[in-house]
Amino acid sequence: MPPLICLLLLASVISGGDSALRFAASYGDHMVLQASPYRAVIWGHVDNDNVTVSVFVKGHETAPVYSISSNGIWKVQLPAWSSSSTEAPYTITATSSEGNASIHDVLFGDVWVCSGQSNMGVPMSWINNTAYEINKALAFDKIRIFQVHAFESSVPLTDLHSIQTKWTAPTKETVPGFSALCLLYAEYIYTHKKQPIGLIETEWGGTSVEAWSGPDALKECEEHKAKRGPRAGSVLWNSMVIPLLPQTIYGAIWYQGESNTHNSDQYACLFPSMIKDWRLKFHQASMGATNQNFPFGFVQLAGNQNDSSRIAGFPAIRWSQTAKYGYAPNPKMPYTFMAVAMDLPDFKSPHGFVHPRYKQDVAERLGLAGLAVAYGEKGLSYQGPYPTSFNTKTKDQLVIEYNHGHTVLDVRSNNGFEICCSPSTHPTTCAVHDHWAPAPMSAHHGTTVTLNTTGCHPKWITGLRYAWRESPCEFKKCAVYGKENDLPAPPFIKYIPF
Ligand SMILES: *[C@@H]1O[C@H](CO)[C@@H](O)[C@H](O)[C@H]1NC(C)=O
Ligand SMILES: *[C@@H]1O[C@H](CO)[C@@H](O)[C@H](O)[C@H]1NC(C)=O
Ligand SMILES: *[C@@H]1O[C@H](CO)[C@@H](O)[C@H](O)[C@H]1NC(C)=O
Ligand SMILES: *[C@@H]1O[C@H](CO)[C@@H](O)[C@H](O)[C@H]1NC(C)=O
Ligand SMILES: *[C@@H]1O[C@H](CO)[C@@H](O)[C@H](O)[C@H]1NC(C)=O
Repeated sequence: MPPLICLLLLASVISGGDSALRFAASYGDHMVLQASPYRAVIWGHVDNDNVTVSVFVKGHETAPVYSISSNGIWKVQLPAWSSSSTEAPYTITATSSEGNASIHDVLFGDVWVCSGQSNMGVPMSWINNTAYEINKALAFDKIRIFQVHAFESSVPLTDLHSIQTKWTAPTKETVPGFSALCLLYAEYIYTHKKQPIGLIETEWGGTSVEAWSGPDALKECEEHKAKRGPRAGSVLWNSMVIPLLPQTIYGAIWYQGESNTHNSDQYACLFPSMIKDWRLKFHQASMGATNQNFPFGFVQLAGNQNDSSRIAGFPAIRWSQTAKYGYAPNPKMPYTFMAVAMDLPDFKSPHGFVHPRYKQDVAERLGLAGLAVAYGEKGLSYQGPYPTSFNTKTKDQLVIEYNHGHTVLDVRSNNGFEICCSPSTHPTTCAVHDHWAPAPMSAHHGTTVTLNTTGCHPKWITGLRYAWRESPCEFKKCAVYGKENDLPAPPFIKYIPF
């Protein structure tokens, strides 16, 4: 035997045989793989190159799929696998000359990534009615959860550095620490679709959108050179997103923005750019298996700070979260969906008012929109009312017509509308808050709202905004809701011509 081969055999024995062939860190017993119409990708590591790895769904006559390893990585696409098969759960086995590995109790279903900052991280144990919710979650044994451990890296990592929670069905040990929004959203979807759901939680409190964005996404918005710390550009993309890219996913949900109030204007570029880049990179790394337009849901920031007059960074970031359209999906953010949360403040939250406990309402709103946008359910009224025309022709009044949400209005207060009254007719003066004056609602009917603009000549009205406050109203008491769907009208800001 030539000495080199002898050495390799020895090394293989010392490393324990089977350990030479491994699944990637985000694969394991009890996991959910993406079901048809998409093809699940399975990948992993092997200590040598040019090793043939065969992957079987055990007990099935389907031919195994092969991969030849390169750079220590093997990666295969399974045939599209239905979620409704009665043969589940499955054992998936990878074999090679370097050893074998298996994962057990695997289901096929929809895989969702849950990401963002601390409000995505808010665990089940923090929310309102927590004991009831934790107990309820235990019954969803076809929802499987996995939690990435927070870790930053200045260089791209091939695989996850560490795992917080390995794939598991909900248990009383794992549910309390898992993302409440992620799990409650999945419960809502599961209740309607009745098919397994795999949840990958990858979030970190206090982080900026730049940290979660790859260099290609940042370049598109001419982001400045990175600062240090978990806000710096791409440091979480490198370690908490890249290692997930090859895995086939159905969609992603996102709750983030509080840490970007300092550059909210830029956020209107950065956020859509990140979504676009995630979609492309998940699609490419999965060898085309993940839909290049996968659905992306997000939460528009909740009420913040018990001061009804305060305007700091939240109104602008909420606007930028929609790429300044006010609603989602929109032309710059196709296949996205949004839950409005500005009317769900929680000033008594023991975890600080920036972490409202009412995640059930947020999850329900996001779930409804997800059914419509991500699952294509027809006939759902899933958006709050949005203005579609403005009439300033009558003296002392401004009439707003709402019909984006296709619903009659449920008006709960007269407050929240303001006009920028500016004799110079130059919209930029509206940047100064002094120019904004309340325009109380004097009437409403069906899908229209009439504002009292007495004191401002129609020609001087250069701007109109709604709910432009850190925390625009008390719990579910903003001015305008949809009667049919109970959803709040999102905030907006418009300049002439409206
Ligand atoms: C893998 O195979 C290719 C093509 O046959 C060959 O060029 C390369 O040297 C091989 N690499 C290793 C590490 O054996
Ligand atoms: C790996 O699996 C193959 C095919 O099932 C089998 O022939 C082989 O003995 C297994 N090797 C080890 C080390 O278990
Ligand atoms: C909070 O939970 C309690 C039950 O413990 C429930 O009665 C109440 O309506 C919940 N509050 C909100 C705002 O959802
Ligand atoms: C919010 O502020 C109002 C007015 O200052 C006060 O009456 C109310 O008690 C505050 N609410 C909470 C939850 O702190
Ligand atoms: C509009 O506001 C003015 C000034 O506050 C008030 O005098 C008038 O009655 C209001 N008009 C309506 C229709 O509410």
